[in-house]
Amino acid sequence: MMAVIRLDNVSKSYGETVVLENVSLTIEDNEFLAVVGPSGAGKTTLLRMLLSQEAPSSGRILIDDAPIAAEPMPDRGVVFQRYSVLPHRTVIRNVMTGPEWLAAPFTGRVMGRARAALKSRARNMLDRVGLGDHATLYPAQLSGGQQQRLAIAQALMMNPKVLLLDEPFGALDPATRRAMHRLVLGLWAEHKMTVVMITHDLSEAFHLGTRVVAVEKRRHDPHAPHRYGSVITTDFDAKPRLARQIARAPA
Ligand SMILES: Nc1ncnc2c1ncn2[C@@H]1O[C@H](COP(=O)(O)OP(=O)(O)O)[C@@H](O)[C@H]1O
Ligand SMILES: [Mg+2]
Repeated sequence: MMAVIRLDNVSKSYGETVVLENVSLTIEDNEFLAVVGPSGAGKTTLLRMLLSQEAPSSGRILIDDAPIAAEPMPDRGVVFQRYSVLPHRTVIRNVMTGPEWLAAPFTGRVMGRARAALKSRARNMLDRVGLGDHATLYPAQLSGGQQQRLAIAQALMMNPKVLLLDEPFGALDPATRRAMHRLVLGLWAEHKMTVVMITHDLSEAFHLGTRVVAVEKRRHDPHAPHRYGSVITTDFDAKPRLARQIARAPA
């Protein structure tokens, strides 16, 4: 299972406003790419294009050398800053919903043994994100951080080839954040996913990423701030640093 994502001279404008300018980037299979940059730089726009929620104004996006599907596909799991869990479904039903629709596109309901298997996978995932004791609650009964973890569990249930994370750990307290870092790193290693994670936290970017890119404006016209878009200003290979970290870590 491979997923190489290639952005080929991608630009994005909204009307007169240029958001991204000629971004070329090849994201290798199993890379953990952290994207940093100031607010408004176009990071979310970039992610929305990877999800086919937005089309580039020019340039192309290829996955494994094929043009990206025009519709959001289950091969790309996504966790957005503004998570969208289903409010009228319990926590466990929320994590079962994606795989259910995939297995039974017409009814969205899996029965019998398949259902039991799915339920046990869902329980396992809830345990891993620390929501094991909250399976029968509704999203409104969860804290913001718990809702965020639910959204992450939902995305991971789909075994995505590509996991897109838009500031997924922002609302979490430090201990929960560390636990989520371990979870995502573990799943990344286990499932050999390609991960693209936006974060405003540089230390998080370097802690998790095998590669860190910065997206920001290089040129600025004070009389026409919309004229220039963001480009990739820094592209840092963090693998040597991660290798040193792993070498230092106690067994
Ligand atoms: N649908 C849209 N229509 C018009 N402008 C948009 C739209 N989406 C984003 N923008 C603009 O694009 C710029 C980049 O936004 P965004 O990608 O959300 O930045 P970031 O995630 O880096 O903070 C902002 O100036 C924002 O106002
Ligand atoms: Mg954003």
